[in-house]
Amino acid sequence: MAGTQDRSILAFDEVTVRFDDRAVLDRVSFELHRGESLVLLGEAGSGKTVLLKSALGLIKADGGRIYLFGEDVTKATEQQWYDLRARMGVLFQEGGLFDSLSIEDNVAYPLLNQETLRCPEEEMARRVEQSLEFVELGHTLEKFPSELSGGMRRRVGIARAIVTEPELLLYDSPTAGLDPITAATIMALIIKGRDVRRATTVIVTHRYQDGEMLTRYRHDASLGHVVPAAANGSGPRTHYVVLREGRIVFDGSQAEMETAADEYVANFVRRPG
Ligand SMILES: Nc1ncnc2c1ncn2[C@@H]1O[C@H](COP(=O)(O)OP(=O)(O)O)[C@@H](O)[C@H]1O
Ligand SMILES: [Mg+2]
Repeated sequence: MAGTQDRSILAFDEVTVRFDDRAVLDRVSFELHRGESLVLLGEAGSGKTVLLKSALGLIKADGGRIYLFGEDVTKATEQQWYDLRARMGVLFQEGGLFDSLSIEDNVAYPLLNQETLRCPEEEMARRVEQSLEFVELGHTLEKFPSELSGGMRRRVGIARAIVTEPELLLYDSPTAGLDPITAATIMALIIKGRDVRRATTVIVTHRYQDGEMLTRYRHDASLGHVVPAAANGSGPRTHYVVLREGRIVFDGSQAEMETAADEYVANFVRRPG
């Protein structure tokens, strides 16, 4: 059984973030253990991106405590955040590839910019290639973002998020704006990241199907693709958290999500077609 004895990777304890006296995160608490996933739902402006940025130390909490890798990082210095971020991978909402850099240089960027990793050049080239192969884009090294489709650019973003082999991955809306098939491909890659390296995964999404995939599929290393997970729920746990105006209004399993009485929460449980 994966789960309960595993160490805590990310925890918020009553975290509050205020902008202009307005709480955009209001006493938010949750905990993720190694290998678990968090599906973060909530309408636009509910605080999802602020939550991720707080976990990255890019936005400072006004109250409460944040724990990363089992340590209280609430009062971490910039240098300590720098080191912490070297252990985290992130795909920002905007995608954020640099148009003027080749795909190779885009993916290498986190290695270049995190001095604590101190990656020698050959090792860097190898890691970049491996990451791009992981997302099945090994042939695009020399290309530029403008030469790739939206789905391919998103995959490059995933390659860049995983290039440092992080223990914790944060994906802000990785499937937004993609057609359903490309979105499923992206989710399969995120599942692969979770299952191959037991990375702890936080994903912001508007698509309930994304969460369903995380819960119901696992990556089969011998087959090289995702397959339905055993129905006995022995896989890594997937938490569902719903934010509303900065407050957590739901925290539970997919099964609990599907029987939630709260209308705001129930609205996120949508079936395709
Ligand atoms: N840097 C900032 N300064 C002021 N307000 C902000 C800032 N970042 C986010 N907000 C506000 O915080 C709220 C939550 O934003 P955000 O987390 O981006 O929402 P979403 O759930 O859509 O990702 C919004 O009302 C937004 O306008
Ligand atoms: Mg957002």
